[in-house]
Amino acid sequence: MSNQWTPESWRSKPVRQLPTYPDGTAVKSVEEELSIFPPLVFAGEARMLKKKLADVSEGRGFLLQGGDCAESFAEFHPNNIRDTFKVLLQMAVVLTYGGNRPVVKVGRLAGQFAKPRSGDTETIDGVELPSYRGDIINGFDFTEEARVPDPKRMLKAYSQAASTLNLLRAFSQGGYADLHQVQQWNMGFVASRPQGERYKEMAIRIQDALAFMESCGVTAENTPQMGKTDFFTSHEALLLQYEQSMTRVDSTSGEYYDTSAHMLWIGDRTRDPDEAHVEFLRGVANPIGVKAGPSQDPDTLLRLIDTLNPTNEAGRMTIICRFGAGEVDKHLPALIRRVESEGRKVVWSCDPMHGNTIKSSTGYKTRPFDRILSEVREFFDVHAAEGTYAGGVHFEMTGQDVTECLGGAFEVTEERLSDRYHTACDPRLNANQALELAFLIAEMLKSERGDGKIAAAAS
Ligand code: PEP
Ligand code: CO
Repeated sequence: MSNQWTPESWRSKPVRQLPTYPDGTAVKSVEEELSIFPPLVFAGEARMLKKKLADVSEGRGFLLQGGDCAESFAEFHPNNIRDTFKVLLQMAVVLTYGGNRPVVKVGRLAGQFAKPRSGDTETIDGVELPSYRGDIINGFDFTEEARVPDPKRMLKAYSQAASTLNLLRAFSQGGYADLHQVQQWNMGFVASRPQGERYKEMAIRIQDALAFMESCGVTAENTPQMGKTDFFTSHEALLLQYEQSMTRVDSTSGEYYDTSAHMLWIGDRTRDPDEAHVEFLRGVANPIGVKAGPSQDPDTLLRLIDTLNPTNEAGRMTIICRFGAGEVDKHLPALIRRVESEGRKVVWSCDPMHGNTIKSSTGYKTRPFDRILSEVREFFDVHAAEGTYAGGVHFEMTGQDVTECLGGAFEVTEERLSDRYHTACDPRLNANQALELAFLIAEMLKSERGDGKIAAAAS
């Protein structure tokens, strides 16, 4: 088989998780339309992210990636974008302070519309219909009509991604990201937690540090870093027809970039090195994430890395581990040993969401806060034991006060899940749970610093 990559060479490979559209001509015409639309991101921005991730891979930064499991057309609202952005910035401030190193902020935003599913169909009360695959593919409503894949949805997704990105660019560059604003967080959850005093102390120290800088004359007016931030977008590159249509040659480097987002990742169900999703992503120069669940074995991971990053370029590969609490030390050490002993440069990140999904007694798909926290802790512990660098975290979260994950300071209980359960797919951390988690991870980063492990990993 030819090794020649083209934007459509994925089409001759085995493929999983793509919809079967009823009308091929309609798909072709949408693809043609999309392929002449303006790119959503510039290649230069994707390169800047890659450089920052290269620093992370060397222990000089920390990756924070987060946002919706699935963005939806119905929940599209400026306040939702603003609130998710704000919580991500607040988490970043806490992590920057705890870790004393730059935090690279990447949203699961402005394009996170396509979902892999474990089954092709779903049965409710004896009625079997095709599964919902995300708003870019079909509709959420459980009706025959809604579940038919419609290529026109790609155009709507493009347009929603474009306006989301426009607002994110305005927020991150236009003053909304002023550090003084960002730390006006709601600390309401502090009082109800035994560790609340420690959060409060850290929040006061951050406030003091900002006040000190201001007294020294460092303000948003004279120091752009105080009022602006770099914020990047990412999503799962699942719907390859859409991703191919958004792929352009960058005139500066002559390389292909997928201009639908700065960073793309490959899901745990589509990461076979011989299949279509890997084939497509090997040819675009963006930073690439790869999910690694319990079935990922060390040899295949190495082959996957070498297929996607044959020149071992730092910043190109992020391995997003998602094993489940209590499972990390069974799987992660072997992967780390294989990858590190071969000298492959990667960012190791932890997704503590996808291995910790359970069904509540009331029938909701949910995730317990404590298990999410445990998986992050185990991830840090394994890296500490291996002498390698725990470089980032990946969350499904929202800025809204939803009740989708159990626990946290406000003790979301099984009975309360139904109060505000809004997700179109997996359960997300709410704003308080996300911020609380950031404080807890900041403490881990701080103690890691105290042990001198950062210096060891960075040297
Ligand atoms: C996701 O990140 O939404 C997802 C489906 O993850 P995974 O591929 O790890 O299951
Ligand atoms: Co998900």
